[in-house]
Amino acid sequence: MKIIVGCDHGGYELKEKILPRLRALNHEVQDIGVHSTESVDYPPYAGQVAKAVAAGKADRGILLCGSGIGMCMAANRTPGVRAVQVSEPFAARMSRRHNDSNVLCLGGRFIGLDMAMEILETWLSEPFEGGRHQKRVQMIEEFSHPKGGEST
Ligand code: RB5
Repeated sequence: MKIIVGCDHGGYELKEKILPRLRALNHEVQDIGVHSTESVDYPPYAGQVAKAVAAGKADRGILLCGSGIGMCMAANRTPGVRAVQVSEPFAARMSRRHNDSNVLCLGGRFIGLDMAMEILETWLSEPFEGGRHQKRVQMIEEFSHPKGGEST
């Protein structure tokens, strides 16, 4: 799978640990940074990853910050992106099965490497169920970006 990965200083250390693991699982990984623990603002990294996923330049995106929360909020501003912040594998699994999540946000200060890999392996392998969930996922987009603008 082609995966684009970004982080801020709060997610840098965990990102550095997961990248070789993802590559060892034969994923094609693009790392857009950051490359140190120097403090940066997370929204541009979220935007870059989100836009790449929305444009089909990557199959999935992974974002890491201190909590995963700010990255998730920012990534979800891009149409076509369904970003989730999760801290355990069950939520990761359900976000794939029912919500077709395409960006995963992790908190580098919340979880350790083993939990991160358990979450990632679940999230990367779990299929979307489709069916009744397909319509609901489409509705997220339709209600967030209605054609013809706001109704009165
Ligand atoms: C940085 O201190 C922290 O606020 C950031 O990494 C992230 O957790 C924001 O949601």
